[in-house]
Amino acid sequence: MRAPTWVAAAILALLATVVSGAPEHDKVTSLPGIVTHNGELQVSLYSGFFESTPTDRVHYMLAEAELDPSNDPPLILWLQGGPGASSMMGMFQEFGPYIIASGDSVVRNEYAWTKLASVLVLESPTGVGFSYCQDQMSPGGKCHHNDTSTALLNLESLKRFVEAFPEYEGKDFMIWGESYAGVFVPTLANLVYESDLKLNFLGFSVGDPCTSEKYQHLGDQLHFNLGYAYHNGFISATSYGRLLHDCSKRDWNGNLAPDYSTPQCVLEWRVYFLQTSNNDGQNPLGFDVEFGKTGKFINTFNNYGPNGGPFDTMLRDYLSSPEVKEALHVSEAPVERWGMGENLVYTKEHLACFYEEGTPQGARPKFDWDMLEIYRKLAGNVPRIVVFNGDTDPDVQYRGTEAAIESLGLDVKEGGGWRPWFFTADGASSDLMENKTPYWGELLSLKPAGPQLGGYVKDYEKNVSFVTVHTSGHMVPQFKPQAAQLLFGKVMMNEDLSPPMNETEIASLSDAEFFGNGTKGYLTEWILRAQSAEYSTLGGGEEEPH
Ligand SMILES: *[C@@H]1O[C@H](CO)[C@@H](O)[C@H](O)[C@H]1NC(C)=O
Ligand SMILES: *[C@@H]1O[C@H](CO)[C@@H](O)[C@H](O)[C@H]1NC(C)=O
Ligand SMILES: *[C@@H]1O[C@H](CO)[C@@H](O)[C@H](O)[C@H]1NC(C)=O
Ligand SMILES: *[C@@H]1O[C@H](CO)[C@@H](O)[C@H](O)[C@H]1NC(C)=O
Repeated sequence: MRAPTWVAAAILALLATVVSGAPEHDKVTSLPGIVTHNGELQVSLYSGFFESTPTDRVHYMLAEAELDPSNDPPLILWLQGGPGASSMMGMFQEFGPYIIASGDSVVRNEYAWTKLASVLVLESPTGVGFSYCQDQMSPGGKCHHNDTSTALLNLESLKRFVEAFPEYEGKDFMIWGESYAGVFVPTLANLVYESDLKLNFLGFSVGDPCTSEKYQHLGDQLHFNLGYAYHNGFISATSYGRLLHDCSKRDWNGNLAPDYSTPQCVLEWRVYFLQTSNNDGQNPLGFDVEFGKTGKFINTFNNYGPNGGPFDTMLRDYLSSPEVKEALHVSEAPVERWGMGENLVYTKEHLACFYEEGTPQGARPKFDWDMLEIYRKLAGNVPRIVVFNGDTDPDVQYRGTEAAIESLGLDVKEGGGWRPWFFTADGASSDLMENKTPYWGELLSLKPAGPQLGGYVKDYEKNVSFVTVHTSGHMVPQFKPQAAQLLFGKVMMNEDLSPPMNETEIASLSDAEFFGNGTKGYLTEWILRAQSAEYSTLGGGEEEPH
């Protein structure tokens, strides 16, 4: 049964999209609250809806590459996680051309990914952000989705995109995403790989991704936990030993859990919760809202990042304002306030981030396999798969992601062993530094700092890479925008993040040759090369004399 208003809206949208070239009615002509460049919008943006299925209207936003079209810039799709998180977070809180600066302002991002590619985001699935479904149109109605329906919906939205923007047909195209998009991205990549979508598919990249229950969760590498607290200095070695050996048990799904059966253990765990800012609410009473407001001192997405900030509220206020809604052509959306997943009922179907707090005992996902199945299928059949993880992310910890990728059993590419990569820390503009919030780009500086450690990279055969991002939490482009832009650019241009490291040669050298003895040895030469413009900047290689 369809509401008459729904039919009318659908027909109108259908008529409106039957135009050649980019849909002019979706062109964003101004963006409220730009605090730099006299409020002038400098980037080509589109925003509107795709009629992705007869019952789903998906909000998209396209930020076009800030490059001469003759350079034929590639296109990426970005998907946020959750489930229920909106990809507008990526656009306005991570890598987009404008980053939220307060509840009613945005600041130009000099490290935007649009410097290298056109970026499409989808608020996905429907029920997230401005995207809506037919069920939502009746009072109290919500959209129902699962991993399968979400991947299918995203594929349909991509088809609508190519229809609406025919000038993108045949472009190089890669899918990127974060967190629970560790499920959304490979499942969609699998469909794109099998489809006749008119884009040149380059593969996918996921950051801090839900990938495998076995290696991430049951390996105790998901969510802030005892091992993480110990290895990152939140608790003493003595406490760790007692809690692990005397006061822990395995719960019904094999996950390490507190054992409160003796008064001594009750005390040990209470002290632990005090030391770890209530460990993200994983205490016997669950999450205390009052404590969450006032008592938290560890950022559960980045243990070294500023904690407790209003970053998400700023975005919500900004996107909910009538002026912004009008500018983005989303006023037709039934939601009063833009939000994340309040209108979504989601069923996870895979063994990836399935066992969350409160999962009913004995619950099993529909499919008894994790994302590594798809990695095994696509590795070597798509041009590249890059998995990255912030190394100070308590939520999806890099050791678990590393173990998951390692379990694919791929050989290491020649010279591709675990080695550091570097990015050049330029000075940020005073406009950006004055206007940005502390919650984005917290390590940026007005003064340039030269080449800095970006993290570590391991390259496998079949064009699979695992990359860590040093001192970054869960949202890599938010915490490390410069390093993230370099990583993004190197992946898109299919360039190595770091020079090959020849272990045969390292083994064969004398100490004097390796360490240098009054001269530059292999060690120094290698590091200088890794820090050179060729590797630590974008386009640096072209300027180097050959
Ligand atoms: C997944 O979601 C779709 C859309 O709501 C629904 O049609 C389908 O039955 C669901 N699949 C399962 C296994 O629940
Ligand atoms: C893997 O990367 C190499 C080097 O860039 C490329 O030549 C090859 O075609 C890629 N493999 C696939 C399956 O595209
Ligand atoms: C690595 O070093 C060895 C020994 O110097 C050399 O024979 C080999 O060609 C090198 N491999 C590469 C890929 O450069
Ligand atoms: C290092 O250099 C000094 C001075 O040239 C020399 O005496 C010494 O033997 C060298 N050491 C090695 C290990 O080559």
